[in-house]
Amino acid sequence: MIIQPKIRGFICTTAHPAGCHQVVAEQIEYVKSQGKLKGPENVLIIGASTGYGLASRIVSTFGNDAKTIGVFYEKEADEKRTASAGWYNTAAFEEIAHRENRYAKSINGDAFSDEIKQQVADLIRKDLQKIDLIVYSLASPRRQHPKSGEVFSSVLKPIGRAYTSKTVDAFRGEVKDITLDQASEDEIANTIAVMGGEDWEMWIDFLAKENLLAEGVTTVAYSYVGPELTHPIYQDGTIGKAKEHLRLSAEKIDKKLKSHQGKALLSVNKAVVTQASAAIPVVPLYISLLFKLMKEKGTHEGCVEQIYRLYKDSLFTNNTEAYDAQGQIRLDDLEMQKDIQEKIAALWPQITSENLLELTDIEGYRNEFYRLFGFHAKGVDYDAEVDQNVKIPSIQSSLIV
Ligand code: NAI
Repeated sequence: MIIQPKIRGFICTTAHPAGCHQVVAEQIEYVKSQGKLKGPENVLIIGASTGYGLASRIVSTFGNDAKTIGVFYEKEADEKRTASAGWYNTAAFEEIAHRENRYAKSINGDAFSDEIKQQVADLIRKDLQKIDLIVYSLASPRRQHPKSGEVFSSVLKPIGRAYTSKTVDAFRGEVKDITLDQASEDEIANTIAVMGGEDWEMWIDFLAKENLLAEGVTTVAYSYVGPELTHPIYQDGTIGKAKEHLRLSAEKIDKKLKSHQGKALLSVNKAVVTQASAAIPVVPLYISLLFKLMKEKGTHEGCVEQIYRLYKDSLFTNNTEAYDAQGQIRLDDLEMQKDIQEKIAALWPQITSENLLELTDIEGYRNEFYRLFGFHAKGVDYDAEVDQNVKIPSIQSSLIV
């Protein structure tokens, strides 16, 4: 089929296999150009197919020469529809890794379920014996609790009061006000159940029980803080409550891992364009402005640059300079620099649909968004026929649920 982008609100319902291959290959080339890192040998990445999780898998493989198992929840193609971007990304990642004789296996299914945890444990026992690093990088709108069967849906809402701010329809180029109602107690609890740390802790408890954690094991999950401008919708909102729970879970897991000489960490990362961040009101406009200023200053980074820096400077060193008072790694240091944030605060009230192109990097935002789905990639002929049925080499059967 000929595959073109089909954008519906903040998602794209198509993805391009050759484009995804190119975008993944570029991330791999970046890591190779930066040189080898010291670090873990066997890595499990939960949420490994897009965004920060995919970047973690790429840095682990091509920076650390680690063997990786990746878990994600993606759709295979059928006669009429393309696969999801994370499916094509993983097919490309494995193809390149396997060509270089590297170990990379993937499991597609619901990471919140007991079944997928068991499948992962069986695979670790068979192939790797022990895991040195577990990256927890899930972003999901819902979670079915593995014990009670209850389904929780997360919401992106302020807490305590309604909140009005500017937001952008990135593809129409329209800046408008959006008012978000305050979350109910149930919505707060449900968001914590989805995006908090309960499932992360379940993973670590399960892998410990199965005796699959190596001595000195590290586990890391990703968080976000951002500037005051986004606090009502992020840090002080429902997602912020979930991230606070994630932080408290890190402390709990850290204590548990002491018996393995291990540690659990949160890394506060920079705002980047991913499928998850595109869904948050206000944030895409903030990102467009942030990108413009960081590109002008020469400090702009995407997922793979961030994660390379995380591995190199913080995760496997004793360098505590990058940690904040709460013990979190601050990979968002460049985003939060005073001059950048002062400029954002000054420019924010001025942005309108008319000056959007001039004041922000909305073009860069759109381009990054297209690239998430394999569009706007270098050297790809988007008018050419392409086979949408691409296999992930390590996944033989169709979707495991
Ligand atoms: P993303 O949407 O690019 O990736 C999410 C991953 O989770 C995908 O691999 C997807 O397949 C997987 N996934 C979702 N539901 C699943 C399920 N039920 N079972 C198995 N896999 C599932 O998200 P992104 O942005 O990379 O987010 C990852 C983490 O990074 C999140 O904790 C997010 O809060 C954090 N973060 C993101 C920032 C951003 O600007 N995008 C900034 C700072 C932190």
